Amino acid sequence: MSVKLIKKDVYSVGVVDWNKRHFHKYEYKTRRGITYNSYLIIDEKITLIDTVSNGFENEFIENINSIIKISKVDIIVINHTEPDHSGVFKKILTLCPNAKIYGTEKARLSLIKYYGCIGNWFTVQAGMNLKIGKRTLTFLSTPMIHWPDNMFTYSYYDRILFSNDGFGQHYATDKLFDIEVDYNILMNEAKNYYANILWPFNSLIKAKLSILETFKIDIIAPSHGLIWYKYIDDIMKKYLFWSSDKCHNKITVVYETMWYSTEKIAKSIVNGIVETKKTKLNLFDITKNDTTDILSSMLDSKGWVLGSSTCNRNILPSMLELLFFLKETDSKNRLSLLFGSYGWSGEAVKNIENMLLKNIVLYSSVNIVFKPNKKELEECNKLGKLFAINISKLKY
Ligand code: FEO
Repeated sequence: MSVKLIKKDVYSVGVVDWNKRHFHKYEYKTRRGITYNSYLIIDEKITLIDTVSNGFENEFIENINSIIKISKVDIIVINHTEPDHSGVFKKILTLCPNAKIYGTEKARLSLIKYYGCIGNWFTVQAGMNLKIGKRTLTFLSTPMIHWPDNMFTYSYYDRILFSNDGFGQHYATDKLFDIEVDYNILMNEAKNYYANILWPFNSLIKAKLSILETFKIDIIAPSHGLIWYKYIDDIMKKYLFWSSDKCHNKITVVYETMWYSTEKIAKSIVNGIVETKKTKLNLFDITKNDTTDILSSMLDSKGWVLGSSTCNRNILPSMLELLFFLKETDSKNRLSLLFGSYGWSGEAVKNIENMLLKNIVLYSSVNIVFKPNKKELEECNKLGKLFAINISKLKY
């Protein structure tokens, strides 16, 4: 990303990781790459907001130097210390040794552990103001968006919220503002980000959104992806919706099958759902789809239908991986239909239920030995119909 002006004397100086395809090294597939955004404010005190991932030191330093000699940076605000934002911290410290560093106490502890240095450190208290010239920055405590150390930084003068991971999207682009890219792709990436990174922290996010309503915000400048300018209301509404227990009239069906019996059950249930024409539906054979998309679909689905064959007295591995993430989401009361097939013991269905005790309300479960026969498949179809009708009547 070349340097770009956001507003008078406020620059985007971050970098683009075009080829990054996984975030956190797990199943969050970043098929559009990633940006590590950083912002430079030219005021009486030259202020850098966040840094970038390691491997991008030279480009990042060049970006800053193209505006002002990096040694002139007076203040570095560390909103979050996860390595995608702090990987170059140690290097940057050596280049601006006199800079004052501002971050939360948890950020301080994290930097010591990661890099063995904190520079000229000042611990930020929630709500603290810092005058940097004609601008005053306010630091908002936002723990778990998305680590305990997080904060947002707000510039009253510019009405810019520097939101770090909040409102981020993994979307490598040479564009700067939301208006410059396809709206649906942007919103889809924002949703993927929420479902795969922030969903476990719904209640904390909801609380912070009500605080943000008291600020006048013209620009949200996250540390990943596009800057929100035209669509601030839209993304705020989406965050309110995703962090609530509200959902769409939609069912997400996910299954993993060994010898196609569980798949046959899935298809009978799905046919029943479709025949009612009562709800939207997304169907995923988990071995042929990305967990990234499945979690995104489940985020706003009223109904979950989950199935696995039993293998070694447990759930099949891809489904187990999905549940590993799903059980930690802040999802509640999702009406669920669980199903599976087995040879001799049949633990998978009960194990799915046990893993999701705090997330679901069990509507029904089906567990069929070996291969479903015609009558059993008809019953699955009927169950799918009844489930869809129930889902369509739910008011939330
Ligand atoms: Fe973008 Fe929590 O790091």
